[in-house]
Amino acid sequence: MSSNLHLWLRHEARPTERRTPIVPADARRLVEHGVTLTVEESPQRIFPIEEYEAAGCRTAPAGSWTSAPRDAVVVGLKELPDEPAALEHRHVFFGHAYKGQPGAGALLRRFAAGGGTLLDLEYLTDEQGRRLAAFGFWAGYLGAALAVLQHRGRLTAPLTPTTREELDARLRPADGEEEVTALVIGALGRSGRGARAAFAAAGIEPTCWDLAETRDLDRPALLAHQVMVNAVLATTPVPPFLREEDLDDPARRLRTLCDVTCDVGSPLNVLPVYDRTTDWDEPVRPLRKEPPLDLIAIDNLPSLLPRESSTDFSAALLPHLLTLDAGDGGPWDRCLDRFRRACRELGVGRGAPGAAEAEEEGTSVEEGTSHG
Ligand SMILES: NC(=O)c1ccc[n+]([C@@H]2O[C@H](COP(=O)([O-])OP(=O)(O)OC[C@H]3O[C@@H](n4cnc5c(N)ncnc54)[C@H](O)[C@@H]3O)[C@@H](O)[C@H]2O)c1
Repeated sequence: MSSNLHLWLRHEARPTERRTPIVPADARRLVEHGVTLTVEESPQRIFPIEEYEAAGCRTAPAGSWTSAPRDAVVVGLKELPDEPAALEHRHVFFGHAYKGQPGAGALLRRFAAGGGTLLDLEYLTDEQGRRLAAFGFWAGYLGAALAVLQHRGRLTAPLTPTTREELDARLRPADGEEEVTALVIGALGRSGRGARAAFAAAGIEPTCWDLAETRDLDRPALLAHQVMVNAVLATTPVPPFLREEDLDDPARRLRTLCDVTCDVGSPLNVLPVYDRTTDWDEPVRPLRKEPPLDLIAIDNLPSLLPRESSTDFSAALLPHLLTLDAGDGGPWDRCLDRFRRACRELGVGRGAPGAAEAEEEGTSVEEGTSHG
């Protein structure tokens, strides 16, 4: 089988990111389908480069995507390094650039400057708008697991990647352990299901809220839970679940808050009670001292279970990578439309100030999409 598709799996710039969107077993299937797959060396990726070589992939030094052939599609997960200023390729990754997040405009301008395209994995959807490949389950699983460990005084920092077996062993309740009241919001989603699974592993039966239960938000009921995991995917602004004054409510029993959603800085944020995420070195930040309220808001939770989360994600992504150049009005075209819309909304693209260089070279965001 032959294909003109050249995928370039990049090294992740973030040192704690051990996941990959393509695992070696799926790399082999891509190669068998005639796809050219170049894999960058990456010291932290959970799968060693030798497994990709054995699967028939080419290899390249970390970060060399910047000089990849122009028609190669650069595939990754999280943020690009700050350089180069102009992005020429098609890029598949989570750009976090369409909800007004900090840095969103700067990223889109880099694409406009180079004539490249962002095919954002968050917007790879079916016709009903459902995500086709997502890490949500493991994000929710980790979020609830860390919240329980913190609540039971068993969370140790810094956090390090682990396996599900190890994590579940730590979650199992000790004899005579105090019962915990927990709440999952967004309980019907992927992260919500993961959170419920982790609570089950910890012997806790959480209250489950989704859209129906938050429409007329009962904040006193929310504050009556000791542990809360927020796992919503906000698409339209709603009243915040917690406000500063709720944290000072004397009736508050809430002690541990885990925000899996991590929309901090976005106008859609349902938890505007903190201004920056936490991380693996300092996973917990106190929001109140007396009585305590601890926050966990880590935006790369699934990386803590890199093997499990990469394997699930890659399996979901693989069939779509095989149709990346189909041009059939399918999910990738929807990604492209979303990118173009974001550029238009920002005034980036042909004729916009950020696109000056691209226009000089005779390319634009629109034309840049036809690479390869
Ligand atoms: N922290 C991390 O590492 C990490 C990793 C992956 C995903 N995420 C984030 O987690 C969030 C959830 O992702 P997902 O894959 O589970 O999404 P999903 O679409 O599968 O589920 C979201 C759920 O939230 C519900 N919801 C939306 N608005 C709500 C509201 N106002 N009240 C109650 N419920 C509401 C939806 O009905 C749905 O059931 C997203 O914001 C995603 O970006 C974070």
